[in-house]
Amino acid sequence: MGSENCSYVSFQNVQKTYDGEVLVVKDFNLDIAQGEFVTMLGPSGSGKTTCLMMLAGFETATQGEIFVDGVPVNNLAPHKRDIGMVFQNYALFPHLTIAENLSFPLTVRKLPKHEIEARVKRSLDMIELPQVAGRRPGQLSGGQQQRVALARALVFEPKLILMDEPLGALDKQLREQMQYEIKHLHERLGITVLYVTHDQTEALTMSDRVAVFNEGVVQQLASPTELYEAPANSFVAQFIGENNKISGTVATIQDNHCDVTVGNHRVKAQPVNVLTTGKPTTLSIRPERIKINPNPDQCDNRFEAQVLELIYHGDHLRTRIQLMDDDQFIVKLPNASEPLKIAKGDAIKVGWNSKDCRALDAISSL
Ligand SMILES: Nc1ncnc2c1ncn2[C@@H]1O[C@H](COP(=O)(O)OP(=O)(O)O)[C@@H](O)[C@H]1O
Ligand SMILES: [Mg+2]
Repeated sequence: MGSENCSYVSFQNVQKTYDGEVLVVKDFNLDIAQGEFVTMLGPSGSGKTTCLMMLAGFETATQGEIFVDGVPVNNLAPHKRDIGMVFQNYALFPHLTIAENLSFPLTVRKLPKHEIEARVKRSLDMIELPQVAGRRPGQLSGGQQQRVALARALVFEPKLILMDEPLGALDKQLREQMQYEIKHLHERLGITVLYVTHDQTEALTMSDRVAVFNEGVVQQLASPTELYEAPANSFVAQFIGENNKISGTVATIQDNHCDVTVGNHRVKAQPVNVLTTGKPTTLSIRPERIKINPNPDQCDNRFEAQVLELIYHGDHLRTRIQLMDDDQFIVKLPNASEPLKIAKGDAIKVGWNSKDCRALDAISSL
């Protein structure tokens, strides 16, 4: 089966239980093309690391098959899979120098000495740290150690590299810098990457595609743009970016349009995973898609609201408003050249287009 499609990595109907009862991974399917950067994004405990470990060979799948380059790897020892790995805690050998740490995967693979030396030098140049060859990991900053860990995963030139929250221990600025470094390295080397994170920004900025994970199930597998613009369900809408949520009942559905009853109001929306009238739904609208004091011809949804709070964020103004029964409704107004003429307590009109308002499965806790 695996060799029939052109994917480089293929998880097929993979399940995993540690205790024989609870499935921490349920029917996992994922195909990754050669050279692709795919991220598994999900909350802690959702089964991401377990999937990586099964691919690397440190855990066995309870059910299903995993293929790498068309070859089933379920019964292949980890060191025979030729996969590079990077973890959050760097996992460098503390008593070895950086050069020795980098040589290690090559010595294990019995490469000739001159080849090892050349590759170690090349990889230190690649991470722009040629001066640290003789130091030990403890003498390096966190960011430098993580770059060395990355170089060590790449030094034996694997075709596939797995990264499990590799930037989790770094501070925000360094993390953002490393995101670009990893992304550029991926583009330059054309290597296939499976990346794990619980940080949505990291997933959106680095990946070709993102698999959003929850409770061992992929909720949506799509490009970053599609995940943000067209979340397939309420979990994805809540997990990726910020959204306003309104509970209502589906009144009518016709093709790409639905009307949703919210108290005494009607909201026009785009039906996503609501099927029948009379059913509860949660509407999802991004805060930056809401217009204040819109012209009637700008938006097909228009309501009265009241400004409760204004918070200045430099590039935008974050506005909390009372809309229908909701006093936590957020509108993000860009700080454009026109000054905004609204103040706390003002009665305003707000509007949005039905295409920016997605009718999703009802969230019961609302
Ligand atoms: N070695 C293990 N033995 C038993 N349970 C485990 C083991 N590793 C992970 N789990 C459990 O499996 C679930 C998924 O864990 P994990 O794959 O680490 O999730 P994530 O990486 O998304 O945080 C969790 O409930 C976790 O407690
Ligand atoms: Mg994990």
